[in-house]
Amino acid sequence: MSEAHLYKIGICADHGGFELKEGLKAYLKEQGREVVDFGADELNTDDDYPDFVIPLARAVADGKVLRGIAICGSGVGACIAANKVEGVRAALIVDYFSAHQGVEDDDMNVICLGGRVTGNLVAKELVAAFLGAKFIGAERHVRRLNKISALSGKV
Ligand code: RB5
Repeated sequence: MSEAHLYKIGICADHGGFELKEGLKAYLKEQGREVVDFGADELNTDDDYPDFVIPLARAVADGKVLRGIAICGSGVGACIAANKVEGVRAALIVDYFSAHQGVEDDDMNVICLGGRVTGNLVAKELVAAFLGAKFIGAERHVRRLNKISALSGKV
């Protein structure tokens, strides 16, 4: 099986994050990343974030993309929706420390951003920190994740 999915980054946004998504997509492509866009394809003020976030989250959980970036106006709805999909560990991120530490300690695989909260340049730095980080996998980290997975069988 091709390992191309290991390098793909999924991204999505509703109308509240559409502009930020387009900016981040261009940035990721400049960085040589392969980006899979789960929509929205155009700015539509009537669209609903679950319609984009759930397919993105499923692709992360199924290993079709390595990690995901989910954006709505605040990032809150995107985070709530993404975490409903088993195998997804999503967090709303507004600071640099959490952008990498969330991966290192908690194996975060979806970063949620607020298009009405976080500016383009800060968002690029947060995404770079997120994508550059690796899960450390120390016994204490795995133990904590196992306590979460015990709820459903899967984290
Ligand atoms: C849409 O107007 C807005 O509610 C949505 O983008 C998001 O902020 C939800 O959390």
